[in-house]
Amino acid sequence: MITATETKLPRLLMELPGPQAKKVIEYDAKFMSPSFSREYPLVAKKGHGAIVEDVDGNAFLDFAAGIAVCSTGHCHPKVVEAIQRQAAELIHISGTDFYHHHMPQLAERLVATMPGKEPKKVFFGNSGTEAVEGAIKLARYATKRDKLIAFYGCFHGRTLGSLSLTASKNTQRKHFGALLGGVEHIPFPYAYRCAHGHTNETCGSEILELLEQQMFKRLFAPEEIAAIVIEPIQGEGGFVPAPAFFLQELQRICNRHGIMLIVDEVQSGMGRTGKWWSYEHAGIEPDILCTAKGIASGMPLSAFIAKESVMTWKKGSHGTTYGGNPVCIASALATMDLIEGGYMENARKMGDYIFGRINDWPNRFKVVGDVRGKGLMIGIEIVRDQKTKEKSVDLRDAVINKAFNKGLLLLSAGENSIRVSPPLLIDQEQADFAIKTLEDCFREAEKSI
Ligand SMILES: Cc1ncc(COP(=O)(O)O)c(C=O)c1O
Repeated sequence: MITATETKLPRLLMELPGPQAKKVIEYDAKFMSPSFSREYPLVAKKGHGAIVEDVDGNAFLDFAAGIAVCSTGHCHPKVVEAIQRQAAELIHISGTDFYHHHMPQLAERLVATMPGKEPKKVFFGNSGTEAVEGAIKLARYATKRDKLIAFYGCFHGRTLGSLSLTASKNTQRKHFGALLGGVEHIPFPYAYRCAHGHTNETCGSEILELLEQQMFKRLFAPEEIAAIVIEPIQGEGGFVPAPAFFLQELQRICNRHGIMLIVDEVQSGMGRTGKWWSYEHAGIEPDILCTAKGIASGMPLSAFIAKESVMTWKKGSHGTTYGGNPVCIASALATMDLIEGGYMENARKMGDYIFGRINDWPNRFKVVGDVRGKGLMIGIEIVRDQKTKEKSVDLRDAVINKAFNKGLLLLSAGENSIRVSPPLLIDQEQADFAIKTLEDCFREAEKSI
């Protein structure tokens, strides 16, 4: 899938960070917001396929994909070509005021990915948080209700509306004052830490009971609730999949009370789990879907897609200057061609291959508490003690740093998990490298306990 002349595996030339990287890091510290939470000193210069090269010529295997954004890898020639062609023809025209044929073209293709007979409509934005903001507004508009329910551990964005839903780390909310009123959170079905001892398939019935018997009776009457918002696989929260039955029951509850079911597929969508959308594994039909990240291989684009009967708002009720920019859409169309043309199937195949090789990690490595996920959305939870499940942030951070120094890029997720989210084009040799590297890192980390 990547040309033979390009590196497929890491190539480290020096101790990290190298001299050019050090210079950029110092420069950055002078001018850039200190709010970023960079985990290790990668200073990227260029990329191809699943490889990122830094400013000193070191090559890394990228199993982070720019937070699951570079679905088709870095600078795929077809994506680059589509961007260049469109940039030479028309860079911007605002969809709020005028038409551009690319917009309905991408909208039609996105709608076609969603199972279900009901026609759907699309609104384009620039980022995940904007898609969530729009979905909140639409749900409120469509239901004439204002209350919202989200889940502990969820991440839906950092602007003030989506931040009101986000309940991942308190640093993301601290000192930002009052958020949206009428938002409540309930636990997410987190099987590894299930208080009731359930499995991956059965965890969550007590949460549904809490929702119906406590929340609906004591806090919000269901007819006041505009939407329940869920990531079918929590991303930032630790790559934790919700069981299929849980999503199905949630759908039934929403249908019963006229509540919008909003699925946030910003991280889990666009073929990463082997299907276009991770909710498809549960066979449900959400009212509104949010997508971003992998949709345009790195160009800033997001969308929310809603049933036609839901997206009935009037002229002027929502708009955007840049959303659905022609260059981003050209990139998204090329991205969808590639995902459809084999990368989604590859994500399923490589996901199965990787799970087949790492499923027994909790038996082989005492720092690994849990391995979970779907397709190429794989979470590894790091613990100090498998019996007590004591979370270990230090060991998790140590594993990620050691991996970087061996040429493998990973990111953290949740309090103590590692997210494995490579581009969808990886091959077996690259998967084997990542598995071996992680195993070496676990062995080294284990020596410290
Ligand atoms: C599930 C989910 N929703 C929303 C967002 C926010 O996306 P953005 O950072 O593009 O605003 C993220 C980002 O990580 C996400 O993972």
